Amino acid sequence: MKKLFYIKTYGCQMNFYDSEKIQDLLKPMGYILSKEPENCDLAILNTCHIREKASEKMYSDIGRLSKYKKNKKLAGENMIIAICGCVAQAEGKEIIKRNKDVDIVLGPHNYHKLTSILSKKFTRPVIKNEFDVEEKFNSFPKPSFSGVTAFVSIQEGCDKFCTFCVVPYTRGAEYSRNVLDIFGEVKNLVSLGVKEITLLGQNVNAYNGKFDFQNPKNLYSLAKLCSFLSEIKGLERIRYITSHPADMTDELILEHQNNSKLMPYLHLPIQSGSNKILKEMNRRYTKEVYLKIVEKLRSKIPNIALTSDFIVGFPGENKSDFDDTMDIVKSVKFAGSYSFKYSPRPGTPAFLKKFDLEDNIINDRLNILQKELNLQQKQFNEKCIGLDMEVLIEKIGKKRNQFVGRSEYLQPVHIISREDLIGKLVKVKIKSLTSFSLHGKLS
Ligand code: SAH
Ligand code: SF4
Ligand code: F3S
Repeated sequence: MKKLFYIKTYGCQMNFYDSEKIQDLLKPMGYILSKEPENCDLAILNTCHIREKASEKMYSDIGRLSKYKKNKKLAGENMIIAICGCVAQAEGKEIIKRNKDVDIVLGPHNYHKLTSILSKKFTRPVIKNEFDVEEKFNSFPKPSFSGVTAFVSIQEGCDKFCTFCVVPYTRGAEYSRNVLDIFGEVKNLVSLGVKEITLLGQNVNAYNGKFDFQNPKNLYSLAKLCSFLSEIKGLERIRYITSHPADMTDELILEHQNNSKLMPYLHLPIQSGSNKILKEMNRRYTKEVYLKIVEKLRSKIPNIALTSDFIVGFPGENKSDFDDTMDIVKSVKFAGSYSFKYSPRPGTPAFLKKFDLEDNIINDRLNILQKELNLQQKQFNEKCIGLDMEVLIEKIGKKRNQFVGRSEYLQPVHIISREDLIGKLVKVKIKSLTSFSLHGKLS
């Protein structure tokens, strides 16, 4: 019988990758994806725990699903509510305590258990939060459909334990998938029409995977993996995210120089420009080390675009610490960045620190930082006007004969063409800029 399912994804790309895998698991069971949750037989929230706001959003969404479930019950039908992802891992049965309508709670390494859970009748809620990461990857079916670009998780978890961050607790210890499994997954995606892959990991540049299980001593770094994957015919572009400054090796920088499929774009979160705060955060580098990496990157790959993440208002951040952050932003010049207000997360070491910064001070600092980052992004985009850029066309645009793609630097680029260009790499002369999108003509 036809069954409908709904899935909402919060958080990072790894969660989006996982949500695609959940869909691949459900489709052979007869489930059809629905855009709206109201009439679904199964509603899934794939959640994020990184900041308080993200977790709270989930609880208000469960409340909404609960109402739909009650309506369905009145009509003699059921809706199974499944909470997956990092909040599921962190809060487990608390979620069911807060809302009795939740049927299934699955941590990020337990999605593959969904098929067996759903095939049995269950009378009480099911909670699974083991760290079976290897089993998880081995149980995902091959995808049968994909677009022009795709994510591929190559690593899970994190051993860095930055004092503000929940990831080591929600995703467990760092684990690198083996090279041949990744190669097989990318090859399959390319055979389905994928032209660009983004390799995912919370610490992706610390990737250290076995070649296969027969060769436990033959370990591949991220650089070596990129070089190996670039041999796949038809794969045009490789990206990776997120890198940690402490793991930025010369080997990876050299791979950028030598591998034309590796895009000249690097997301390298610094978080703060103050050495005192970086130490308190347990980030394992100083601002001087970060600046050295930037210098090296730019000397070897002059056109590389750099982006970053920032946290403002970490406990103990004073005016001079914030000034250090602004100084580093002004000296590096980023092509785009994310910045967040520090959110105290229960269970992390920083949660226990005295947190007495006034909210209006933090807001002011965030505004100043974001203004500068937006200006830098605008300046970076403006410098692209007049250039001939390589663009991978991903989809049709809103206007007639319009196509949208991405530049090497991930900027959205709009062009007009009568010919269907989806999946093609084209040269575009950039003519103008509207907010953060570029517009150009085929050159
Ligand atoms: N592994 C990556 C980042 C993963 S989380 C790295 O180390 O850079 C993505 C971003 O969320 C982080 O870079 C950080 O800027 C932000 N973040 C994480 N925990 C946070 C918290 N408690 N409060 C505010 N922002 C946070
Ligand atoms: Fe979190 Fe730090 Fe690990 Fe990034 S490196 S996921 S911020 S603990
Ligand atoms: Fe959020 Fe978990 Fe990703 S906490 S940022 S979904 S690893």
